[in-house]
Amino acid sequence: KYKMILDLDTGIDDALAIAYALATPETDLIGIIGSYGNVVTSRGVQNSLDLLELLGHPEVPVYMGANHSSTTDHFDVMPVSAQIHGVNGVGEVSLKQADRQVETGSGVDFLISAAHQYQKDLLLVPTGPLTNLAAALDKDPEIENLIGNVTLMGGALTVPGNVTPVTEANINQDPQAADRVFRSSLPLTMVGLDVTTRTLLTTRETQQWRDLGTVAGQKYAEIVDFYIDAYKVTSPHLGGCALHDPLAVAVAVEPDLISTIYLNMKVDTKASFAGRTIGDETRINDPATQTQVAVNVDKERFVQEFMTKLTELFKN
Ligand code: BDR
Ligand code: CA
Repeated sequence: KYKMILDLDTGIDDALAIAYALATPETDLIGIIGSYGNVVTSRGVQNSLDLLELLGHPEVPVYMGANHSSTTDHFDVMPVSAQIHGVNGVGEVSLKQADRQVETGSGVDFLISAAHQYQKDLLLVPTGPLTNLAAALDKDPEIENLIGNVTLMGGALTVPGNVTPVTEANINQDPQAADRVFRSSLPLTMVGLDVTTRTLLTTRETQQWRDLGTVAGQKYAEIVDFYIDAYKVTSPHLGGCALHDPLAVAVAVEPDLISTIYLNMKVDTKASFAGRTIGDETRINDPATQTQVAVNVDKERFVQEFMTKLTELFKN
């Protein structure tokens, strides 16, 4: 059985990633590392703790991660993040506060020790900036050859970005860290906007959760309806909200949900292109690559599995 670690900036689709991981029997969710992005790290960590409690899984440990990018000493939430995820990151919905606190150890140390313990059984799914993973690689380069797979939500290769014409939000937060990760020898799968903006949810689906009459169903419906409303304003052409982060979790366990190309990637770190994910021209003729970029997705199958799994989870 796989062991999964999520590295989250817990906003709304990250909340869906937690639910999807808990509802996937092929893997054990062994921990969550907090990051900054949709909200500040402390808020995201609190959201993860509260959501785990809501979903009946208070045993999953939550660790603190980076509070800001590897090249700055401060982080401010972008106004557009508050618009999409709410100021509290969960659509202004109030959740019962968890009875427990964040773990005392650091998220980076937790990741390093899990890599040594579980090796190829370990699946890491980062759905926020790659600051924590880059820090772990710097601290213990050996983990490059240990971790089974890193399936990250981030980047865009065949479509424009969502924060600038060429950059996706997670990569944009810390291009240097992302570049460090893409140039490593980690087995990587990039689940970017190329595919995540094809997997959509509407209020037809959230109504099914509300109809369950459970607290979890009710709360998740309210949270995701906020996200759906935000998408009507920011991305009206899509016709629903994008299931970015839960798609990465699903792909980690079921890689055949997507089709990929193998490509050595880099992340631009300079000036106007900073944060762009693109093929690395210096390794374009290097036949060895461990990086796959998702370019297509079986969206019907994914959305169906997503609904079956989450509806079952929210029943209890
Ligand atoms: C990504 O950025 C965050 O806002 C979302 O949670 C997702 O991980 C989409 O670009
Ligand atoms: Ca995220």
